[in-house]
Amino acid sequence: MKIAVIHGANLRLLGSREPEVYGSDTLDDINGHLAGLASELGVELETYQSNHEGQILDFVAEAAARVDGFLINPGAFTHTSIALLDAFLGVQRPFVEVHLSNTARREEFRRHSYLSGAAEGVVFGFGVHSYLLGLRGLVARLTAK
Ligand code: DQA
Repeated sequence: MKIAVIHGANLRLLGSREPEVYGSDTLDDINGHLAGLASELGVELETYQSNHEGQILDFVAEAAARVDGFLINPGAFTHTSIALLDAFLGVQRPFVEVHLSNTARREEFRRHSYLSGAAEGVVFGFGVHSYLLGLRGLVARLTAK
């Protein structure tokens, strides 16, 4: 089983970016934790980060041919991108949406996600554990299919 992990806008800044909101883990730390869990679960991961919406759309379209599902933290594209929703609807691969912060108790504009309605599941508010729980959920869902 192979899963693509996508980190969207501004997530390469983790570690120094608003640590009181996003914690002190860097993106490499998060990818390291994910790699550890992936080997425990016996799945292969491919990770990708971009600040560019169009590049993420292209990645989803290309990676869909070689992966079974996606784990994505779209960053702010969560709240703005109908195009990203359409990309996932177009490739018909299951995806799980994750967020480090609890978006439900932040600004109003973070409460709406264009993706959640099409996701297999959504995990938010647990820092790096959102990613790890999301990966576990996605693998369980794919295994059951
Ligand atoms: C985020 C939440 C988004 O609202 C924000 O724009 C991000 C990070 C999170 O992981 O908590 O960039 O996706």
